[in-house]
Amino acid sequence: MEPIHCAITGSLGNVGYYAAFLVASGAVFGEKQKIILHLLEVPELKNSLSGLEMELMDCAYPTLQDVKTGCDPVELFRDIDCAFLIGAKPRGPGMERKDLLVSNGAIFKEQGRALDVSAKKSVRVLVVGNPCNTNCLIALHNAKTISPSQFFALTYLDEMRSRAYLAKQTKNFVENVSSVTIWGNHSSTLVADPSETLIAGKNATALCNKEMILKEFQTHVRQRGAEIIKIRGKSSAASAAIAASYAMKHIMSEEKSKMSLSVYAKGNQYGIDPDLVFSFPCTVGGGSWTIEPSEKPSEELWKEVLISEKELLAEREMIKHLL
Ligand code: LMR
Repeated sequence: MEPIHCAITGSLGNVGYYAAFLVASGAVFGEKQKIILHLLEVPELKNSLSGLEMELMDCAYPTLQDVKTGCDPVELFRDIDCAFLIGAKPRGPGMERKDLLVSNGAIFKEQGRALDVSAKKSVRVLVVGNPCNTNCLIALHNAKTISPSQFFALTYLDEMRSRAYLAKQTKNFVENVSSVTIWGNHSSTLVADPSETLIAGKNATALCNKEMILKEFQTHVRQRGAEIIKIRGKSSAASAAIAASYAMKHIMSEEKSKMSLSVYAKGNQYGIDPDLVFSFPCTVGGGSWTIEPSEKPSEELWKEVLISEKELLAEREMIKHLL
C-alpha cells in the first residue's frame, strides 16, 4: 500500500497541533495505512516546527512513515493526497467569523494556487480556518485544474454540537442520536435541522418541543464557538481538530455515511446559489459526496437557511477580487 501524503497547515496552532497527532496516529486513515505528514507553518515559526516533528517521531506511531516541514506551500504541497487547511488567524471575543475574511482570504488564495501547482490532481482538501466556507470558495477558485468537488469546509463540528445538545436535553446517550443536518454557513446564521434525526429510534421533532428547536437549540449551536472563546479565552481547539479528523475519515472511508458537509453548491437540488460553499445533508464515502435530495426542513427553518445563503453571498462579494 502506498503511503498517504497529508498536509496540515497551521500545524503549530491549537487546532493544527492536535490534528497532526490524530492523523499521525492512524485515527483518520486507519491503523494499516502509512502516513507522510507535510506540516506547513509561517516562516516565523520555522524552528518550532522541528520541535513538533521531534514529538511526532517520539510517539513511535507505526503509521507515521515520515514528516516533512516547511513554510512554502508550493514545496510542501508537492504530490499530496489530502490537506487540512487549518492555518488562519482565529477570531477573538466579540468577533464574527466573517470579520476574519480580509486577513485570512489572501492565505487561501495562495494555498489554492499552490495546491493547483503541486498537489496530486486527486487531492481532497478540508478547509477549517475561518470563515471556512468562503475561504474554501477562494481556495477552490484558485485551484483551476482541480475539481471543486474535491474541496470541503467543516460544518461537522456544528453537527457534533447539535447531537451532544439533543442527547443532553432528552437524557439519552449521544450514540443514540443520529445525524443532524447543518444548513448554510459555519457562522451564527447556520441552521441546525433535526427533522430527520432519530433519538433512540424516535423522531427528534416528536421528542423535543418546536419552540426549543426553533430557539434554544439554534442559539446553542450557532453561539457555541463564541461561548467557548468567551469562557476559554481562545477558540475551540481539540473539538475542532476531532471534528476535522472525523469528517476526513468519513469522506475517505470506503463505507458510505451521512453527515453535514459544506460543499461546492453547483448542481444542488435546493436552489442555493451554485457558486457558494454551503452546508448540506450529504452522503459521503470513497473521497466523494452527494447531496441528499429530499430533506428540506420546515418552512420556518428554510427561511433561516435563505438568510445564511444571503450571508454567504455578502461574504463572496467582499472577496470577489480573490476569486
Ligand atoms: C468554532 O466553531 O469553535 C470554530 O469555528 C472557532 C470559532 O471561531 O468559533
